[in-house]
Amino acid sequence: AAGGPLTGRHVLVTSGPTHEPIDPVRYIANRSSGKQGHAIAAAAARAGARVTLVSGPVTLPDPPDVDMRRVESARDMLAAVEAALPADVAIFAAAVADWRAADEAPEKMKKDGNAPPPLALTENPDILATIAHRTGGRPRLVIGFAAETQNVVAYAQAKRARKGCDWILANDVSAQSGIPGGVMGGDTNEVHFLTAEGAEAWPPASKTEVAEQLIARIVAALGPLEIQ
Ligand code: C5P
Repeated sequence: AAGGPLTGRHVLVTSGPTHEPIDPVRYIANRSSGKQGHAIAAAAARAGARVTLVSGPVTLPDPPDVDMRRVESARDMLAAVEAALPADVAIFAAAVADWRAADEAPEKMKKDGNAPPPLALTENPDILATIAHRTGGRPRLVIGFAAETQNVVAYAQAKRARKGCDWILANDVSAQSGIPGGVMGGDTNEVHFLTAEGAEAWPPASKTEVAEQLIARIVAALGPLEIQ
């Protein structure tokens, strides 16, 4: 809302899965719902920020008062993120596909009694690492997520250093994590909040509450808007 603590700030959020084309009708995807990323974009807008939400294909409604940029693939997502800069804060909640088909077939691949075609994969760009390692125009706060199934804090702290981001929200997506129905696609989340100073275990909460807690930390870290 106008007059909120993020008034005058630009917050960039990625959300959802990516779809990586194999041919004109087939793609590689994952189970990300986009709920956490969309909740963060909505909370940032409620706090008064100008929000750009770069989202892969999701079935969620657009959050109110955000500038939506819809993309399909990881490469599209990186281009949309770069086009949306500069930003004060960038939050990378999307579940970006690690790999895409090395060659996208221009026409639908046919069965025609042949053996199944091989599917060669190639690595996608790491959007978070690319933006976090920028020397010019890096957002003041670059925030990533880490979904782990074991040693959550240790793996995520190593990931924070490797990717060059400021903060990571790490969650346990194993079946044993204790969240009924699971984190992926569910409405609740239990995260560890990791910074250079260490890790905090946040209590299980709705994805909206996790988003609001994150926004409160961002407000505290940015401080008051500098008057030019
Ligand atoms: O490496 P991993 O996928 O576990 O890292 C997760 C974090 O990195 C998330 O914040 C995700 O949005 C981001 N990421 C990205 N581009 C990729 C892979 C991950 O922005 N290609």
